[in-house]
Amino acid sequence: MAATTPSKAAPAPGDRLTTMPPDSSSFGRLHSYIFSRPDLETNLRNNPNAILSAIDDYTAAQRMITFGLPKITKCRELLSQMDPPPKVLVELGTYIGNSAIGWGEMLRSLNPTKAGCRVFTCELDPTFASIARDLIDLAGLSDIVTVLEGAAAADSLRSLKTEGVVDKADVLFFDHWQEAYLPDLKLCEELQLLRKGSLVLADNTDVPGTPEYNAYLASGEGPVKYHNVPHETSAKNAKIVLASTVVDV
Ligand SMILES: C[S@@+](CC[C@H](N)C(=O)[O-])C[C@H]1O[C@@H](n2cnc3c(N)ncnc32)[C@H](O)[C@@H]1O
Repeated sequence: MAATTPSKAAPAPGDRLTTMPPDSSSFGRLHSYIFSRPDLETNLRNNPNAILSAIDDYTAAQRMITFGLPKITKCRELLSQMDPPPKVLVELGTYIGNSAIGWGEMLRSLNPTKAGCRVFTCELDPTFASIARDLIDLAGLSDIVTVLEGAAAADSLRSLKTEGVVDKADVLFFDHWQEAYLPDLKLCEELQLLRKGSLVLADNTDVPGTPEYNAYLASGEGPVKYHNVPHETSAKNAKIVLASTVVDV
């Protein structure tokens, strides 16, 4: 799969609302909930934070695997402490695009000219990718956020590097299946995607837990050295965001 061209052509923005068939799944109902809201045009369109709040309202009643607002707020604090501000972020695990919208909004607000701001987010499942694109488009972030669909994140990472789309990632975010965290981190190291000062963030390192990933980061045994801080949030489950700053490469 080419990193810059998703394996399935993304529908033109005006066609996007017809791409989702009626769906009784929680993510299908989330899509309907957002796009049938009376404040769609007056409040949600081009307003990433309002969309994140709307997703948060929905997920309060419906259990979903989104990276919720307390953790997004913590990450906003962490990214705003980076100097210079981050511009390039690679996310593993798009799902319905919740955190991708958060990242796009953060990069845009930290870099007023938006020059060079890019979020690349990797998703295996085309249905999730389609919902994510609709929501990212609604948020007005399609110029910053690209959904890389249909391949394992490892393949997308290789394509991003070998096609010269990304040289170094300022921020990496692990939120796909936990067994892939460590192999994909090692791949990022091998591809030299990290630089001194890059920030590696990960969800679910406490629940369900990623003991091998955590131990590797703490051990310093690989080519990249990290300073690791688990940040506790007010999230109901999986409260920790593990933040690992690259201190040496
Ligand atoms: C926990 S969800 C991501 C939540 C998302 N960050 C959000 O805030 O909405 C994990 C997602 O990773 C995707 N996934 C799992 N393994 C993957 C892989 N190896 N490559 C790409 N996507 C993967 C799953 O299909 C799922 O949509």
